Amino acid sequence: MVSPPEFQHDPVMVAEIAEIAADLSPGTFADLTLGGAGHGVAVLDANPELELFGVDQDDLALAAAGERLERFGPRATLVKTRFDGAGTALVDAGHEVISGFLMDLGVSSPQLDIADRGFSYHNDGPLDMRMDTGQQRTAADVVNNYSFGELVDVLSAYGDERHCKRIAQAIIDGRPFTSTTQLATAIADSLPAPVRRKSTGHPAKRSFQAIRIEVNDELAILGGTLDTMIDMLDTGGVGMVLTYHSGEDRIVKDRMRRVIEAGVPAGMAPTSDYRWSWRGARTPSDSEVEENPRARSARLRAITRVGASGPGLGAP
Ligand SMILES: C[S@@+](CC[C@H](N)C(=O)[O-])C[C@H]1O[C@@H](n2cnc3c(N)ncnc32)[C@H](O)[C@@H]1O
Repeated sequence: MVSPPEFQHDPVMVAEIAEIAADLSPGTFADLTLGGAGHGVAVLDANPELELFGVDQDDLALAAAGERLERFGPRATLVKTRFDGAGTALVDAGHEVISGFLMDLGVSSPQLDIADRGFSYHNDGPLDMRMDTGQQRTAADVVNNYSFGELVDVLSAYGDERHCKRIAQAIIDGRPFTSTTQLATAIADSLPAPVRRKSTGHPAKRSFQAIRIEVNDELAILGGTLDTMIDMLDTGGVGMVLTYHSGEDRIVKDRMRRVIEAGVPAGMAPTSDYRWSWRGARTPSDSEVEENPRARSARLRAITRVGASGPGLGAP
């Protein structure tokens, strides 16, 4: 077991997120992917009138966040749940409306770096990849039991992997798999040498991402959670989502657009309660990407609740 002080995760676009938090009305800010509370601490520091309601499904993250948020006393509440349980947890705790929310999707650096968690294609570990270690399904279940067709679907939908059929066949042929590097090697070996040479990062990176998303049901619960949180926003409230790959970003963009354009006939000014906080997605600065390569693919989208007659900005 790794102790919380070793939990090192650089929060992405933290200055931009803190700037938005600074302007929010007094009330509750829900961080649905609390991690090590890098964003959570920045939000509370930026706006003394906000309280943080932090949610994560990972015990290690919650332990680290608890230590970092201790200095804020009762301004921070931590809850262990998958984020589709956040709406109920907020209401149960008396927070029916919120001033803002953040979802910073995916995994934290410690989850990737600790070999035993089984997320890493570099450090050998068991094929696990569960964010909530109490959950049943592991990466070994997906890798060793899914049919060829199911593997192809996972690899292509959640990893945008062009070579999904080749990789799925290599997985079927190489079974049973027990460790992450055994799987990473089989995936890399299944690709033609020129593809391996040209791939940015490890050739198994996309496949590992796809399997991780499947194990944790990450995309299945994203849209519904977003709808619930958007609905709970107070007037003036802002909901922000940081995504790291196209599948996530598409869901976020579509859901927000649907709310913003609700009931708006083509060509008419939107009459929805919501508008885009800015057009399109914001991305990290070059200097942030240089310092934190994990930020490279980040996209930040946000929605603002403007009230019953507020104008919308239209599609990004
Ligand atoms: C990218 S990290 C967040 C890092 C955090 N913003 C910070 O500043 O340290 C994502 C976190 O969200 C958690 N997470 C991912 N999907 C989740 C879900 N469906 N429900 C609850 N927590 C989730 C992960 O366990 C991880 O700790």
